[in-house]
Amino acid sequence: MPDLFDPITLGALRLPNRIVMAPLTRGRATRAGVPTPIMGEYYAQRATSGVIISEATGISREGLGWPYAPGLWSEAQVEGWKPVVAAVHAAGGRIVAQLWHMGRLVHPSVSEMQPISASATTGPALAHTYDGKQPLPEARAVSTDDIARIIGEYAGAARNAIAAGFDGVQIHGANGYLIDQFLRDATNLREDAYGGMIANRLRFLSDVMQAVIAVTGAARTAIRLSPNGAVNGCHDSDGMRLFTAVAAELEALGVPWIELREPGPQSSFRATDEAPVSPEMRKVFSGKIVLNSDYDGASGQAKLGEGVADAISFGRPFIANPDFVERIRTGAGLNAPDVATFYSQGPQGYTDYPKLTDARRIGAWT
Ligand SMILES: Cc1cc2nc3c(=O)[nH]c(=O)nc-3n(C[C@H](O)[C@H](O)[C@H](O)COP(=O)(O)O)c2cc1C
Repeated sequence: MPDLFDPITLGALRLPNRIVMAPLTRGRATRAGVPTPIMGEYYAQRATSGVIISEATGISREGLGWPYAPGLWSEAQVEGWKPVVAAVHAAGGRIVAQLWHMGRLVHPSVSEMQPISASATTGPALAHTYDGKQPLPEARAVSTDDIARIIGEYAGAARNAIAAGFDGVQIHGANGYLIDQFLRDATNLREDAYGGMIANRLRFLSDVMQAVIAVTGAARTAIRLSPNGAVNGCHDSDGMRLFTAVAAELEALGVPWIELREPGPQSSFRATDEAPVSPEMRKVFSGKIVLNSDYDGASGQAKLGEGVADAISFGRPFIANPDFVERIRTGAGLNAPDVATFYSQGPQGYTDYPKLTDARRIGAWT
């Protein structure tokens, strides 16, 4: 049975362990989406993870609605990322960029544009904005010209990620954002080659992956999906069939690894009664599968033993425990995450969570 501390290869990435840091939006960039120095400190603190998947990073102004989230479409953003990525590498770590288009969930007060989506639908949740949470307007259905442009923006952001020094990219196909809006039949009402039957609804995802692979190579390209359950009104009537077909498509494209957020009914992050799809995806996808949601060291290790997952990604434990890997290794207790500072600015609840070594030092003083 594989161990969380066994090394693993994910395409071009060689991980010293199977403890992956899940992508976590933290809102510490500037309003222009430029990374700030404190982000380098934060990520470097977590460099002992097998690989860090960066916080979701906008591919364009149109696609980025989250306050103070970073982007990868401008020269200034690339320059801002360079020292962040370099800090992770200097600390011995690896980091891939999660590339994000939020589609209908972008509020116009942030992007100064009407949101776009597969079809003219409205995100049901309130959007995070610089002026608090606000209702979303209806999205504009993209034209085929828009689709070609947006695919080019994914490729451009991937090029910029490599220029900034990232070890690869992960396309954000999860959680009800643009790619998910194309995939699912509750949000994709199109009647052209990008809508209707499953083969059409997964075309946008496939086009994006092909365009990005042409830039970064398949060995440095991955994707995150959330196959079971709905997020932000983005639902499918047959997620099992849809995501098994997606996995077959990713196999055909030679994608080396995928990350799946698959909560259960008791999850503390978007619980669902829908069964996990990963066992079916495993049958048609020969690459590596990283599973996420609600794991700790013991349950993550147990999951590896079931044979579906090759590695486990951890989100909130990494927010509160920069030395989470060491804590699993030693069986030490965990700091609890402070929800109030998840998306706040500055170091509080970001770079100031104590490491075990800090506790020992404090212990030595008292
Ligand atoms: C503060 C916060 C920010 C998140 N940001 C992202 C993100 O940028 N991209 C993404 O795919 N998922 C994001 N997620 C989801 C996490 O990656 C992960 O799926 C979730 O926290 C459940 O895993 P956990 O139980 O290990 O925390 C976020 C979750 C939290 C709590």
